Amino acid sequence: MIISRLIVKNWKNFKSIDVELQERVIIVGANASGKSNFLDIFRFLRDIAKPGGGLQPAVIEERGGVSKIRSLSARTNPTIEIEVHFSEFGTRDVIWKYKIGITQESRGGRLQLIKYEKVSDKNGKVLFERPNLDDEKDKKRKTQTYLEQINTNSEFREIVTFFEKTLYLHLVPQLLKYPRAFTGPDLSGDPFGRGFLDRIAKVPEKTRNVSLRRVQEVLKLAVPKLKELKFTTELGYPHLEAIYEHWRPNAGKQQEDQFSDGTLRMIGLFWALQEGDSLLLLEEPELSLNGAIVSKLASLIYKLQKLKKRQVIITSHSSDLLQDRGISLSEILILEPTNEGTVVKTASSIKEIQYMLDEGMTPSEAILPRIAPNSINQIAFEFQ
Ligand SMILES: Nc1ncnc2c1ncn2[C@@H]1O[C@H](COP(=O)(O)OP(=O)(O)OP(=O)(O)O)[C@@H](O)[C@H]1O
Ligand SMILES: [Mg+2]
Repeated sequence: MIISRLIVKNWKNFKSIDVELQERVIIVGANASGKSNFLDIFRFLRDIAKPGGGLQPAVIEERGGVSKIRSLSARTNPTIEIEVHFSEFGTRDVIWKYKIGITQESRGGRLQLIKYEKVSDKNGKVLFERPNLDDEKDKKRKTQTYLEQINTNSEFREIVTFFEKTLYLHLVPQLLKYPRAFTGPDLSGDPFGRGFLDRIAKVPEKTRNVSLRRVQEVLKLAVPKLKELKFTTELGYPHLEAIYEHWRPNAGKQQEDQFSDGTLRMIGLFWALQEGDSLLLLEEPELSLNGAIVSKLASLIYKLQKLKKRQVIITSHSSDLLQDRGISLSEILILEPTNEGTVVKTASSIKEIQYMLDEGMTPSEAILPRIAPNSINQIAFEFQ
């Protein structure tokens, strides 16, 4: 299943979003244009739906309260609204719609409340619509969504599972290399990869071997001299081991703390693509990677996501990634900051870009100059 349309109001630096999403989505925009905030919409839904999650912790503990997620450009205190339409992978027919409006009590405990919540199915049949009579009788009920309540969500469990299994990856190599050096509570969903090796360890051996073999095949093409990638345990701790071609026998063995940053990021990326079948959010997958590899990333991601029929949403700054002429303009979302918040447009909706591609330009050549900050050329003069 994929999210085929997203409609949002008053979320962080977006006042209003209404976009169609494809199976693969690439989000581009200047620094601070809202790419990570866009991904955070899906992480927020995950934080509500996951076991032990819920609306209150998703808003307060994970994000610091309604005032942090409500758009600052809104003049009054409007409702934060999120609506998602779902379709099967490879189709556009809508099979589910979920929408939620969130507001905050103006007085008293200033609880975060459901303004409305609604699910409908492929025939347009409404499974529930809130606030209902029970909500009006007992205000406390409005502090919880139906997504987080097992006894109310059985009819639309498919949506709950989709949100719950959404995976966000922004792997930080140092955290993976030295997980025990970084203390503090685990972050929800392990976004930065501190528990990455433990996650690999938990996968049944056969599945793990198949997935690691696929990772190894890509690595062999991308990392000079690498021959083999294996999973091992040592004194109960999980490790990755790579064998490199070397002129001395047995000299070419290395563990993850010796791997290069780019090698680790590639392992994390290609592992994550196989790690589930729900939405995968990839934050700047190009980091630390050689440009020649980055130029192949979009097609590699496409091949791996098709195996699981899963949607992948990527943020990127990379001209190498956008060089690929196999990327359709309907897969690219452009974030353009304005005085009224950031506007999200599908690249295919912009005529000039379509024209430039017809003239033979790559998506990168047609789009990246458009999103560069206007004043960037002054930067060199600032320090004279
Ligand atoms: N509640 C809010 N209302 C309005 N703007 C907000 C709100 N919360 C955060 N922002 C703004 O969002 C911007 C950060 O957006 P984000 O981190 O998504 O950018 P990005 O496109 O991912 O940038 P980068 O490419 O640098 O990672 C900041 O300028 C911040 O001020
Ligand atoms: Mg960002």
